[in-house]
Amino acid sequence: TGAALRASFASKAQKENNHNSQPQASYKVAVLGAAGGIGQPLSLLIKMSPLVSNLHLYDIANVKGVAADISHCNTPSQVRDFTGASELPNCLKDVNVVVIPAGVPRKPGMTRDDLFNINAGIVRDLVSAVADYCPDAFVQIISNPVNSTVPIAAEVLKQKGVYDPKKLFGVTTLDVVRANTFVAQRKNLKLIDVDVPVVGGHAGITILPLLSKTRPSASFTDEEIDELTVRIQSAGTEVVEAKAGTGSATLSMAYAAARFVESSLRALDGDGDVYECSFVESNLTDLPFFASRVKLGRTGVEALIPSDLQGLTDYEQKALEALKPELKASIEKGIAFAQKQT
Ligand code: NAD
Ligand code: LMR
Repeated sequence: TGAALRASFASKAQKENNHNSQPQASYKVAVLGAAGGIGQPLSLLIKMSPLVSNLHLYDIANVKGVAADISHCNTPSQVRDFTGASELPNCLKDVNVVVIPAGVPRKPGMTRDDLFNINAGIVRDLVSAVADYCPDAFVQIISNPVNSTVPIAAEVLKQKGVYDPKKLFGVTTLDVVRANTFVAQRKNLKLIDVDVPVVGGHAGITILPLLSKTRPSASFTDEEIDELTVRIQSAGTEVVEAKAGTGSATLSMAYAAARFVESSLRALDGDGDVYECSFVESNLTDLPFFASRVKLGRTGVEALIPSDLQGLTDYEQKALEALKPELKASIEKGIAFAQKQT
């Protein structure tokens, strides 16, 4: 039911504070690419949030119907639709969180980097508008290749003089969602309890699940570690192949992004106990961007969590060193793209 969904999205602290009343709906969220495979279910899930007062749905086409449809759900937020670049400024005005799933998805045989040529420009232009119209918002990038699109976004925000590294996020929650699911299945654990940090980036071997840091602690054979790691790293491709040319993960991605948005809103709302993995500017390794667990607060990333990278197993340490050249190259490709535009 709607009530059950709303309750499941409300934080523990809020539930304790509010007893029978809903938390105050007071945040404005914009989804850019809202008519797409991810955008539609993600917008629906955000509409379920008790913390959202205004939901702005933007796309270059087909967003009117999506907004009309979603707006009939009897949850607090007011839904508005915005089509095309001329309506983007109004879409972004006063928004607290901007989520960006705009761009093309993979087909079988493609890597995420094969999407660079189209998606780099889309992200650059959208983030440029974010810089102009809601420079204080949390910016959450879903569009692939995340390892490059987040550095592009950082450069664009820098060029506009509004870059706040604490407020720019690459959404890697789906890697954590998958790791939690696969580990719980494999080890017969209660799913709700399982939490596996996933670090590095969001493509192939740059996705590094830290199985040794699984909570509650679990032990794995070498074979299990290898199988689970490879499955988590190739889970996106698993979906691309199953969809056989019609796209990549959309529903599980919407679920994962809705979790990340809700965590961000709880952090904005003052919950002091919000942790998520995300690809952010980082000094945890020698790479300028790196996914790790971060503590979220009112101003964005309040702290990176270095402890996950301490005491790694040999397998994890080797995998960490092995992913760095690819991740570094993807970051540099994004930065070079954004710099050559100016
Ligand atoms: P889709 O093609 O179904 O939807 C993309 C939407 O973006 C479309 O509605 C399209 O009109 C819109 N769009 C295109 N250019 C735009 C622009 N300039 N401004 C606004 N909207 C624009 O694709 P999808 O399945 O929703 O995937 C979207 C992106 O998310 C892809 O790049 C995909 O690789 C990525 N993705 C990332 C993750 C992750 O874990 N970060 C997971 C799944 C997919
Ligand atoms: C995923 O992990 O599902 C996304 O990055 C989409 C893809 O291309 O695999």
